[in-house]
Amino acid sequence: MSPAEDRFASVAAHYDRWVEWEPRLKKEMPFLTARIPAGATVLDAGCGTGAHARALAAAGHRVTGADASAAMLAQAREAEARIAGASSSAEACIAEARSADAEDTETPRTAAVEWVECDISDAAAIGGRRFDAVLALGNVLPAFGDADAVHRGLVALVARTSPGGVLILQYLNGERIHARGRLVAKGSDDATGDIWVRHHFEAGDKLWFHSYQLRHGESGWTAEVRAREYNDVPAVEVAALLAQLFERVELFDGLTGNPFDPLESDSLGVLATGRR
Ligand SMILES: C[S@@+](CC[C@H](N)C(=O)[O-])C[C@H]1O[C@@H](n2cnc3c(N)ncnc32)[C@H](O)[C@@H]1O
Repeated sequence: MSPAEDRFASVAAHYDRWVEWEPRLKKEMPFLTARIPAGATVLDAGCGTGAHARALAAAGHRVTGADASAAMLAQAREAEARIAGASSSAEACIAEARSADAEDTETPRTAAVEWVECDISDAAAIGGRRFDAVLALGNVLPAFGDADAVHRGLVALVARTSPGGVLILQYLNGERIHARGRLVAKGSDDATGDIWVRHHFEAGDKLWFHSYQLRHGESGWTAEVRAREYNDVPAVEVAALLAQLFERVELFDGLTGNPFDPLESDSLGVLATGRR
């Protein structure tokens, strides 16, 4: 995707600082590892900077991280190389310390992820391969674009799931935002001094995603404002669609084992098992 079309190009370098990965992975990985069979082939669709993909590869899965944004994938590759570099220098120290013990060669390594830049809605992407588990986490579904693109993307994710396989989705709970009128997230980036505010709020019968960023550059502050329609797929709709294609569909309060509450859950976690 060219930088002009890459909606994540301007946030990619900051994304990992904005997401609190340590608590997020701590909360979400037990859900994922309990529901993905050992050694499965996994497609992390819209993998972004790749934290789930790397964690699942380290847990023994064969992982493909696919994303349309070259900028996000560049961050994913850099993080993987950084971690591999850190673990190989740690391994070198350990190996040196243990050089007297020639039989001790079993040091765990971070398994490599296959990174693919593609539009996941394109049937020919990744050689048309199917996966035992397909994931679209952290608001990938609404990030596909307009209502048609979101629908096409959802169908493409199902098509990528092998017979008998599992599909796991996670995205913001639009019903709660509708009921409350708006959802506001604010923050600042300590490393850069940037300030950002995001609103998701109801306007008529639609949701909008607004993002405001103030960045401090050499010539002072600049402001960036973006607004776009946010295309949610309501829980009942996604469940009805997937129920036709999977043996079982369960809705969760995000990626926790707790049941989904339309008015209280921040995000919707969808687990569809037994692809027909
Ligand atoms: C909000 S980020 C989520 C990243 C990551 N999964 C997470 O949990 O933090 C959404 C990602 O979806 C990607 N994306 C959007 N549409 C896509 C498409 N059609 N094909 C592949 N990736 C897409 C974007 O480039 C972006 O990296």
